[in-house]
Amino acid sequence: MKTVKKAELHVHLEGTTTPALVKKLAANNGAELDPSTFKSDGEFSWSDFWDFLRCYDKAAAAIQSKDDYRAVTYDYLKRCALENTIYVETFSSPDHAADAGISYTDHLEGIAAGIDDARRDFGIEGRIIVTCVRHLGPEKANSVAQKFVEYPHPYVVGFGMGGDEAQYHPKDFAPAFYKAHDAGYKTTNHAGEFGDCQSIRDTLTHLPVSRIGHGVRAIEDPNLVSELAERQIPLELCPGSNIATGLYDGYEQHPFDQLKQAGCVVTLNSDDPPFFATSIGKEYERVAAVNGYDEQIMRQITINSLKSAFCDDALKEKLIAAV
Ligand code: HPA
Ligand code: ZN
Repeated sequence: MKTVKKAELHVHLEGTTTPALVKKLAANNGAELDPSTFKSDGEFSWSDFWDFLRCYDKAAAAIQSKDDYRAVTYDYLKRCALENTIYVETFSSPDHAADAGISYTDHLEGIAAGIDDARRDFGIEGRIIVTCVRHLGPEKANSVAQKFVEYPHPYVVGFGMGGDEAQYHPKDFAPAFYKAHDAGYKTTNHAGEFGDCQSIRDTLTHLPVSRIGHGVRAIEDPNLVSELAERQIPLELCPGSNIATGLYDGYEQHPFDQLKQAGCVVTLNSDDPPFFATSIGKEYERVAAVNGYDEQIMRQITINSLKSAFCDDALKEKLIAAV
């Protein structure tokens, strides 16, 4: 699959930081890292999804300046480009930046500089989806949405939400999502990962989303799968992430192919690659191998992603032509 051009729509920027880069940034910043962040082999240490979210926060705390955000972005896009990825839409979390003392605009400018540098050096294109964190609650989400509309940036193409799906209800975040939507932006929400079909249905009912983050557990309700297929709502599937967090035993058990066969718009993504021992290239390799997909099918998955991307049409067309 090395020659297949790839695109990614669902990856958390703070969650792309490798243990090596986390340690380097912490050392440069004179910041003390919580030793429980890493296992004895140097990899990130976490036991389940909720513990992963805590580990994510500890690692993200090492990112402490605009230039750190540039470095994290550049490092990730470089790794993606080396796997023949041409486009990455990354989630960024102003709440994590704020916790580390970085302003909303500084964090965006840092990421944008990383995108510019990676384009110059590797030809890869990147855009940003600003995300709020569900378990931090609706008030924090509203203030992220407020900043989002107050400080537009040419690389910011959408609004999203990650975090713990068990906390609050999608309708609690309707004001934040509609603020972004009414300002002309597309949105996506994590649903149907650790939440069930109802979480996806509630998202579709209450939030103006154009895509679903994960959505994989729609497979538990054939009617919902049919609805997603009929409405052609793209699913940001992340098999390696789901396997690492224990939702499925392996790629063989992951319903990627079932959702695809049912006519859903499937896209393939890495979510938080160093935490889940994966990369966008590995996801393409593994999903293709397990399901017997040839290069043509994998190219179609890239095209699904590019068609579902939140960037402008001119860029989409240029990228699709390159696939
Ligand atoms: N799921 C939900 N929230 C997240 C994730 C994830 O995989 N990564 C970072 N925040
Ligand atoms: Zn995610």
